[in-house]
Amino acid sequence: MALYSDKVMDHFKNPRNVGKLDDADGIGEVGNARCGDIMKIYIKVENDIITDVKFNTFGCGSAIASSSMATEMIKGKPLSQALELTNKAVAEALDGLPAHKLHCSVLAEEAIRSAIKDYYDKNGIEYDPALFPEPHDEE
Ligand code: FES
Repeated sequence: MALYSDKVMDHFKNPRNVGKLDDADGIGEVGNARCGDIMKIYIKVENDIITDVKFNTFGCGSAIASSSMATEMIKGKPLSQALELTNKAVAEALDGLPAHKLHCSVLAEEAIRSAIKDYYDKNGIEYDPALFPEPHDEE
């Protein structure tokens, strides 16, 4: 069996939503200290809906594919739904990732959370801090 699914290869080779939003309402940046990869996600929010999202990922193919898939999964969705997006759901949507590459999808989940937290902070919106645990370093 191939190490990477067709979906991973597709999102790696033709990543969706790459770039930057100059007028972003929230920006999230996370990194993984072990591999050194960095992911940055920009969101535009209107009436609690993510109307646009872009990403810049300096990392491996799985991190790029995860960012691409994750941004597709939250675009047009309410913030509450985006907050529920797990790395497991991202990996599943990509038809799986090798075990040693699961941490790449964790970066996508954390970057989205971080962007939403930034949006809440910038707009003085109250939230439950438990929603935003400190990013963790996973294998
Ligand atoms: Fe670290 Fe993929 S190897 S994000």
